[in-house]
Order: sequence, then C-alpha cells, then structure tokens
Amino acid sequence: MEYARLGESGLKVSPASLGTMNFGPPGGVGVGSCDDAEALRIIDAFLDTGHNVIDTADAYTGGESERIVGRAIKRRRDAVVLATKAFLPQGPGVNDRGLSRAHLTRALDASLRRLGTDYVDLYQCHQWDPDTPIEETMATLDGFVRSGKVRYVGCSNFTAAQIVEAKWAAERVSGTPFVSLQHQYSLLARSSETELLSTSARHGLGTLAWSPLGGGVLTGRYTRDTAPDRTSRIGRLMDSSSPLARAWAGELLAEHNLTIADEVGDIAATLGSTPTAVALAWVRKRPGVTSVIIGPRTLDQLTGNLAGFTLDLPADLIARLDAVSARTVGA
Ligand SMILES: NC(=O)c1ccc[n+]([C@@H]2O[C@H](COP(=O)([O-])OP(=O)(O)OC[C@H]3O[C@@H](n4cnc5c(N)ncnc54)[C@H](OP(=O)(O)O)[C@@H]3O)[C@@H](O)[C@H]2O)c1
Repeated sequence: MEYARLGESGLKVSPASLGTMNFGPPGGVGVGSCDDAEALRIIDAFLDTGHNVIDTADAYTGGESERIVGRAIKRRRDAVVLATKAFLPQGPGVNDRGLSRAHLTRALDASLRRLGTDYVDLYQCHQWDPDTPIEETMATLDGFVRSGKVRYVGCSNFTAAQIVEAKWAAERVSGTPFVSLQHQYSLLARSSETELLSTSARHGLGTLAWSPLGGGVLTGRYTRDTAPDRTSRIGRLMDSSSPLARAWAGELLAEHNLTIADEVGDIAATLGSTPTAVALAWVRKRPGVTSVIIGPRTLDQLTGNLAGFTLDLPADLIARLDAVSARTVGA
C-alpha cells in the first residue's frame, strides 16, 4: 500500500478512503440503507486491506453513520484515520448549525460521543458558513487541536477563494491551517480542475474526491432503455417526495452522463475489467488527488470498488476518458 501525506501535514493516508454516507437508515443528510451488520463487515474488510481513512459526518443518517463507525473501529482505533464533519443542522435552533464557536464546540463533543472516541483525526468544515467570520472558525478549530480532541482540520465544498480566505484567517489568528479539501470529482464532474486542485496544492491542502462513481452512474447500471431499479440510489431519488431530489436524479441520468458511462463500459470491456474499476482508476491517478472516497453500500460493492485501486489504465485509454468527459471540466 502506498500511503501519501495529506497536504503539507505528516499524516499518511491511503489511496482509498471509505465513505459512510450509506450506513444506517435513511435520515439526515446521507442516503442510508446499509444495515449495521453489513456496514461492520464493509468497514472490517476495508481496513483489512490496509486502507486507513474512514469518512463520516454528524449529519449522515441522523448520526447513525458515526455510531456505526465508532463501534466498528473500537478495537483498532489507532490504525484508523477517522474523519468527520460539522456544519449542517443538528437541531432547530439558530446555533445548532454552521461554523460558529457556539455550534462547533457542541458538534464536536456530540460527534466524539457517537464515535466512542476521545479524538478525531481529521475534523472538517462540511461547507463554508457565510454567517460566521472565518477567523472565529479557524480560532475555534485551533483550540480543538490544542485540546487534543482533534489532530488535523480540513474543509469540504469550499471554493478556491474560500480556501485562500481560510488560510489567511488561520495566519491572522495564529491558528492551525486546513490540511485537506473534500470536493466532488469524477468523470461526470471535473470542475475542480479549473481552480480547486491547483489552489489546494498551492496552499498545502491534500484533496479527497467524493462521489467518484457519480452516485453509481459510472458503474454502468443505469441505461437509457430500462427504468432504474427502485432500490438503487437514483431509483430512490426518483421516488422521493422532494422535487429537488427528483431533479437531481434527472441530472444524474442526463444524456451526456450516459455517454460518458458508455465509454467507460467500452474501455472496461477492452481491459476485461469493470466500469466501476475503470472510473475509480481514472480518479485515483488524477494530479492533485490524495485519496478517493468510495461509497459502497454492500460488501460486494466494496470488492468491486477496490479493484479500481489496482487497475492500471494505459495512457491511450486515459486520453479517451479525458476526451469524452472534457465538457464536465466546465460543467
Ligand atoms: N463532502 C461532501 O459534501 C460529500 C458529498 C457526498 C459524498 N461525500 C463522501 O463521499 C462518499 C462517497 O460518495 P458517493 O456515495 O456519492 O460515491 P459514489 O461512489 O459516486 O456512489 C456510491 C453509490 O454507487 C453505487 N455503487 C458503488 N459501488 C458499486 C458497484 N460495485 N456496483 C454497482 N453500484 C455501485 C451504489 O449505489 P446504490 O446505493 O444505488 O447501490 C453506491 O451507493 C460518501 O460516503 C461520503 O463519505 C462527501
């Protein structure tokens, strides 16, 4: 296993990180539907391979994801790089959300309780908070690091300008800078290539790529001729009462996404591999990507995902994937 330093920190992380948004019943932000027993099997099997990062969030499945992760890693806590996030609402109150000192202090303690541990390796701001001065956030995070409850801090879904703002703010308060950015990145979503990857590298942040399979579209399981399986992520989005969820399903199944998935399928056939492995192998090798956050819902899916971390794509096939997905750089 080749571990990489996370940004300019000394923390070593594996090429794959395990995303846990599927773990637990549907609830909060996160898709859910992987029961506890299967989730524990997935976490054990993942860690047994030597990959070491597990990514969760307080908002995933109403806190169940953190509880499951906590139980799973108890016996080998020190071998795990445990990453969680805060920002999203944890209650109805005005101070139950965001990146203020008031909220983050409570959110961290609640995450530690659910995770059954006294420290988080990587504590991430899930989103930028326009209502809190970034200096307050960086000073609060620095306090967490000094207290020993947090070892490193990172951000998620920040723009390039926000990354720079946070870096300057950390300097102004003599605080701990971010060592990582989580960003959406796949053959269906390459907008990080315009600014985020270069800005992260320039300011010492490693990057963790989320939704590397475009929520499942790049596995080849969705076609033009058949309706999505109702139990699949997109099937469930289509059945949702939320218009936003239904619109998202439509966007995922847009013609240009299916065209990219077709090319991934053709390349997989050429290599005697699977579309899943090809799509993940492409992300894993992109310049600036430190680790890829996979999101299996079953043990079989984990096995299929891990094949992407041993598959080598020849340059001519990478060029074909780059070409078919070029429009998503600006998407
Ligand atoms: N920071 C953020 O804002 C943010 C946002 C999103 C995600 N994330 C992180 O990134 C992780 C991964 O995101 P993601 O779940 O969207 O990743 P993804 O890999 O793009 O999609 C995962 C979905 O793809 C399908 N899938 C995976 N492997 C498969 C296989 N071998 N065969 C067939 N289908 C397969 C499954 O769909 P079905 O469930 O339909 O079977 C699975 O739920 C999350 O768990 C989370 O930790 C972070």
